[in-house]
Amino acid sequence: MATKLVNFLGKGVPQGARSPFFKNRGWINGQWVEAKEKRYFPVTNPANTELITEVPDMQREDVLEAIESSYAAQKLWRRQTAKSRALLLRQWYELMNKHKSEIAKMITIEQGKPYTESLNEVNYGMSFIDWFSEEGKRLYGDVLPSPQENKRMFLMKEPVGVAALITPWNFPLAMITRKAGAALAAGCSIIIKPSEETPLTALAIAQLSHEAGIPPGVINVLTCSRDSVHEVSDVLLDDERISKISFTGSTAIGKRLIAGSANTVKKLSLELGGNAPFIVFDTADVDVAVKGAIAGKFRNAGQTCVSPNRLLVQSKIYNEFVDKLTQAVSNLKVGDGLNDGIDQGPLINAGAIDKVERHVNDAVDQGGEVLVGGTRMTSLPGTFYNPSVLINVNNEMLITREETFGPIAPIIKFDTEDEAVSIANNTQFGLIGYFYSRDIDQIWRVSDALETGMVGINEALLSNEVGAFGGKKQSGFGREGSKYGINEYINIKYVCMGNLKT
Ligand code: SIN
Repeated sequence: MATKLVNFLGKGVPQGARSPFFKNRGWINGQWVEAKEKRYFPVTNPANTELITEVPDMQREDVLEAIESSYAAQKLWRRQTAKSRALLLRQWYELMNKHKSEIAKMITIEQGKPYTESLNEVNYGMSFIDWFSEEGKRLYGDVLPSPQENKRMFLMKEPVGVAALITPWNFPLAMITRKAGAALAAGCSIIIKPSEETPLTALAIAQLSHEAGIPPGVINVLTCSRDSVHEVSDVLLDDERISKISFTGSTAIGKRLIAGSANTVKKLSLELGGNAPFIVFDTADVDVAVKGAIAGKFRNAGQTCVSPNRLLVQSKIYNEFVDKLTQAVSNLKVGDGLNDGIDQGPLINAGAIDKVERHVNDAVDQGGEVLVGGTRMTSLPGTFYNPSVLINVNNEMLITREETFGPIAPIIKFDTEDEAVSIANNTQFGLIGYFYSRDIDQIWRVSDALETGMVGINEALLSNEVGAFGGKKQSGFGREGSKYGINEYINIKYVCMGNLKT
């Protein structure tokens, strides 16, 4: 594919949603660049499958150029004071804030989520830049009490170097800023490799970083197609000048990055797949639980790593919960996220629909019953799936073993607390678990027992810049946000001054 027009926009961008921030070039060393091999790949709007634009399909030589520029820029960036880095980050934040409605529209156009959700994502994403601009100023080291009189000992915090940020399509902005804020505040330069589905938001905020005054090379953005992604990531993995990889995405790719980085021993943070249990005990406020299930499960059409993947409901309140949830799901309005009043947009692509369909069919073949939904939506041109509720589900079905990443609420009935905890923990994943209860003893018991990095108690929306986002087991390691997020981008250097005449 080759479209030579700079900032060409196709039919995938509705009139009125055109923005000066649509960029269809890679961003390397402060320049908008083509791929050296002049290859391109298409970016489409999942709400109508129309072409938005084409962006460079970068390869090895482009990656090497980005690494060289990042490596040189980092040497200068780390020497800037934390205060001056904070001011630049703050200006970046202000520009995102000023242009938040254009950015939100762009997210909706390339990713599909409803505009109000996109706006929430912009606010959420920006909050990491604000937060880490402050955290960077408080990156204190330690002065240690020396065990010998003639020594003085210090622990200094240093940026790790160049960080490659490999980010997913489900949050085209926030999964970048959650990493970038911490990395830049710590003094790292970054190479962003956005998903091939949603590169445009990344390119737009690169433009804003430039307008904010962040120097060339401190932020580079490499775009590449799905076919080129292994080549691009292999160059990043093999290059000694990359010290850190932060990745959000599937467990399978996370394992590939662990293995691939062994040769150059890179620092890693991995936010991988989830299989979140959402337990509603007899002791719960059912209305609060239904509201939480809608918010958590149907946000972004179920395409978040923290989406409840298995709803476990205790027998006494089972009928009430199922009836109320089914009613609420039937009321969800599906459509193009740029239209008013839409609760659920399309799934990201045809492959996502196929996966959801496979999970639902597998459940139904094994005795699952669809109460609402259970089908693709064919009345709309995009990749839409009807919001669905399934009952008679068990923990053996694909839909409860794998991350479905779609708008399906599969419900498992249980009798005892022990049974629920054991089903909840019976998975290789450990990102997040939710439960609803008003029994304080049960609350602490279950919170302790869940084998996850995060726990939502009577709450399905936990994500913000103050909390520490991250998992355990095969959901990965490392934390993003909070006072801990910046540690992922620093090394501790122990400095000892000896032979002092004291
Ligand atoms: C994710 O899906 O990986 C992130 C979800 C969130 O930040 O809430």
